[in-house]
Amino acid sequence: MIAIRVENVFKSYVSQSKDRRVQALGGVSFELQSGEILGVVGESGCGKSTLTRIVAGLERPDSGAVFIQDSPLQPIPLFNSKDRIRVVQLVFQDPYSSLNPRQTVFQTIHEVVKIYEPILTRDEQVARVNQLLSQVGISSDLGSRYPHQFSGGQRQRICIARSLAANPEILILDEPVSALDVSVRAEIINLLLDLKEKLNLTYIFVSHDLEIVKHVSDKIVVMLKGEIVESGTWTEIMDTPKNDYTKSLIAAIPVMNQF
Ligand SMILES: Nc1ncnc2c1ncn2[C@@H]1O[C@H](COP(=O)(O)OP(=O)(O)OP(=O)(O)O)[C@@H](O)[C@H]1O
Ligand SMILES: [Mg+2]
Repeated sequence: MIAIRVENVFKSYVSQSKDRRVQALGGVSFELQSGEILGVVGESGCGKSTLTRIVAGLERPDSGAVFIQDSPLQPIPLFNSKDRIRVVQLVFQDPYSSLNPRQTVFQTIHEVVKIYEPILTRDEQVARVNQLLSQVGISSDLGSRYPHQFSGGQRQRICIARSLAANPEILILDEPVSALDVSVRAEIINLLLDLKEKLNLTYIFVSHDLEIVKHVSDKIVVMLKGEIVESGTWTEIMDTPKNDYTKSLIAAIPVMNQF
């Protein structure tokens, strides 16, 4: 089954100085099968996050279309259209700023469980929160703590648990490990890969880091200035890069890692 189909999406913004429009996406198209991981790479400002927000339904394209599991994506006034948000969830780069500092971890996740599992009793909701925490490797004993009492890696685990609380089928991960200490990046990547298998998820995985994208992705798209300039498997892209920008990315991979 096709999980995501993006057809010729354009998006522009008024620039900060308000004197011109910035074209963030200039005709992006791709398809992703259920259960696959699409890696998205490209330099800063090339439109990766814009693409993730549009696929998640948080922003409307100027033109073009997005289909999620064959139905056209409807705009979501955040919490009004539960069915749509249930399918696609976003995980952001900075786990600290995406958590409410005044809420305990339990409250943060419980808030989402209450929305998505309203028929559960209070005790069942508590059990569900604890299950979500343990799924991401956080002991339920820590539920009464606040975000600042956790490490960066633990906070990203909590953000992942919060996304999973909505029972998504597609997770969009926008630079999910870039803000983390190098030493915990692999742990979080492995957790994400495990969860994908266990829960049968489909991922869009955005990263600056070609090595990570190579490790996780079934398919890769390379973006440049709002367009997809290359797509294929890692091997296809490495063997026959079509675009100069891709060639420069490949050339920048440290030699010892090129195997
Ligand atoms: N809300 C907005 N208002 C105005 N311009 C925006 C807005 N969002 C994005 N842009 C512009 O659109 C372009 C694409 O931005 P986007 O954040 O999608 O890039 P990115 O590839 O995610 O970059 P990074 O790797 O730095 O996260 C940039 O020129 C950016 O300045
Ligand atoms: Mg971005």
